[in-house]
Amino acid sequence: MKHIDIVHVLKQEPSLHEITVRGWVRSFRSNRFIALNDGSTINNIQCVVDFENFEEETLKNITTGAAIEVSGVLVESQGQGQNVEIQVSKVEVLGIADPEEVKLTILSPKRHSLEKLREQAHLRVRTNTFGAVMRLRSKLSFAVHEYFQKNGFYYMHTPIITGSDAEGAGEMFKVSALDTKNPPLDDHGNVNYKEDFFEKETNLTVSGQLEAETYAMGLGKVYTFGPTFRAENSNTSRHLAEFWMIEPEVAFNNLADNMDLAEDFIKYVIKYAIENCQDDLEFLENRLIQEDKSKPVAERQEMTLREKLHFVVDNNFKRVSYTEAIDILKNSKPNKKKKFNYIIEEWGADLQSEHERFLVEKHFKCPVILFDYPATIKAFYMRLNEDEKTVRAMDVLFPGIGEIVGGSQREERYDVLKKKMKDMDISEEELYWYLDLRKFGTCTHSGFGLGFERLVLFVTGMGNIRDVIPYPRSPGNAEF
Ligand code: 4AD
Ligand code: MG
Repeated sequence: MKHIDIVHVLKQEPSLHEITVRGWVRSFRSNRFIALNDGSTINNIQCVVDFENFEEETLKNITTGAAIEVSGVLVESQGQGQNVEIQVSKVEVLGIADPEEVKLTILSPKRHSLEKLREQAHLRVRTNTFGAVMRLRSKLSFAVHEYFQKNGFYYMHTPIITGSDAEGAGEMFKVSALDTKNPPLDDHGNVNYKEDFFEKETNLTVSGQLEAETYAMGLGKVYTFGPTFRAENSNTSRHLAEFWMIEPEVAFNNLADNMDLAEDFIKYVIKYAIENCQDDLEFLENRLIQEDKSKPVAERQEMTLREKLHFVVDNNFKRVSYTEAIDILKNSKPNKKKKFNYIIEEWGADLQSEHERFLVEKHFKCPVILFDYPATIKAFYMRLNEDEKTVRAMDVLFPGIGEIVGGSQREERYDVLKKKMKDMDISEEELYWYLDLRKFGTCTHSGFGLGFERLVLFVTGMGNIRDVIPYPRSPGNAEF
């Protein structure tokens, strides 16, 4: 018989019609009640067996972690916690899970720390928390595509291996097919990349932006959604060495349009999660409420997870210039009392995550879009303002996260861009194609990058970015 997803079974009315489900045993109580989960929902279906009717050998193998197939009719549940349950007429063990071995893993039914779960990342998706997070991750990905496709954007696949450093920050993983033990050398004794696979130095992309700009100049509105790589040695709960980024790029959009797009887009995908992932959000919300109980009152969340999501969807993001933000920070209590790790002394300082979070969480108490940053702390491609000191950059800052989006209006003026590249020591030869865009029908255009894992962090309320991607890559960690 064809099996049905448990998520659908739980919505059905009791009936005499026999159904079949398959899944993994979460628990088997009193030789009678099986809690079965198949990943289609956070909720288990209760399967009730009359042990007199089944062989002992079969019952013995119904243990936590085992894969089984169950058939029976759906009846109204006598117990609490569920409306319906399956009165089992047939059960087959598809894959056993030795209880002695299960005991040593995170599948064993007790509380495990998130660190422990990370060590067994190949099993953690079978826990309630990770099931919920990964279902949300998938739904959010869908919402990203839905938003852009509905709004006339084209999905563009940018190269993973590139010869350019889009951010000019030099934090790249090299890609080479040369023999590392005995690489060919040039006349100066340096590695001769002309003999490498691509006949030049290449790296994993840090961003698809520059290539996306070329397509925006032909297709008008494009977006990328793909993996990006950064070899920055940031061992934090907000950084990954491999993360997924969404980068829209729009011809004829100025910075204000870019802000509108970012705000509208973020609200859309969060709203999508609220409307389509209720069970998982409820579970994650309760998880946080439980976690809060062990914290001092002052450190507890003011809003529940779903209140926080609604708050973002229902309120305008506050738009503040960098210059205003610096004034606020300079006069702030933590700055005056030297509570910040980096004290803000003057205009031009780069903002650290502690400053971003102060602005969002303590000062404005809502998402903030900071714009018009000093040119010296931002990438070469951002449009220079009339003051010649600031660029048309924007960062969207979120409570609990800090920077979730970075973007800008692009420098569309050929001479200005060329000079900027020269000043910042960026090779004109390498990026001739990027400069070409400013020669052939240049126009105002803008875009941004949203770090997908930071979005998933916010929506799930998880505390560490390594817990919102299946197999995190971070300094010293490329397991699995
Ligand atoms: O601010 P970033 O570096 O901007 C860019 O890469 C631009 N090319 C985007 C554009 O304009 N098209 O990165 C964009 C976002 C950040 O705001 C952050 O959310 C995320 O990417 N991000 C990271 N997420 C996880 N781990 C890291 N190491 C990240 N670095 C950036
Ligand atoms: Mg940034």
